[in-house]
Amino acid sequence: MARTPFIAGNWKLNLTVSEGVALAKGLVGALKPGVEVAVCPTFLALYPVAQAVAGSALGVGGQNCYWEEKGAFTGEASASFLKDAGAKYVILGHSERRQYFGETDATINKRLKAVLAQGLVPILCIGETLAERDGGLLQQVLKTQIEGSLAGFTAAQLETLVVAYEPVWAIGTGRTASSAQAQEAHAFVRSVLRGVVGDLADRVRIQYGGSVKADNAKELLSQPDIDGALVGGASLKLADFSAIIAAA
Ligand code: 13P
Repeated sequence: MARTPFIAGNWKLNLTVSEGVALAKGLVGALKPGVEVAVCPTFLALYPVAQAVAGSALGVGGQNCYWEEKGAFTGEASASFLKDAGAKYVILGHSERRQYFGETDATINKRLKAVLAQGLVPILCIGETLAERDGGLLQQVLKTQIEGSLAGFTAAQLETLVVAYEPVWAIGTGRTASSAQAQEAHAFVRSVLRGVVGDLADRVRIQYGGSVKADNAKELLSQPDIDGALVGGASLKLADFSAIIAAA
């Protein structure tokens, strides 16, 4: 099953508006046919970045969103506001949100509903901690996260779903999963997806995330169930991220 490779940069809390606009403009020249590419700036930089690359194939995404559309929810941004600002994608359930901001599968499920209602593409993040992996809980953790986040949705509703497998121990540590470890986890994720969304599982792109760099991207992306990358640190520099796009 041919799945279009999808490379996304998660800028996290990095890059000012002017830095982000400059990087995004540069990335337009690094795009290549047959590879979907997006950047996920801070909420502040999202609109100016989207404006700067409007008309190009570079997509823009949010790093999170709230489930209510608007109202008295100080500090939040909703899916409809992200869409209005130019977003096409929204990252959901990143491990940093789970770890520092109390995100759970139940709250991710509510956010997912809002994202899909706006016609935005969700990038659902899942992944185990090192203690969970060492404790033999890898499969149980991934299964719980997938089934909890996707509970109550039909396959038809999840047509655009993208999943990002990001082992927590590989994020920002320079310690990437081996391509064999990543492939094994991705194949398992796809098998769990098959139980939830049936044959759609063959079309769901599963990105790998966690210390993806120019020098390991090709090997990771050549695995049969690795359909792209969610890139943190190496998405912040034009040369590094361009090289990852080139490897896809
Ligand atoms: P790093 O590429 O910096 O390890 O971050 C990965 C990540 O968390 C992407 O969402």
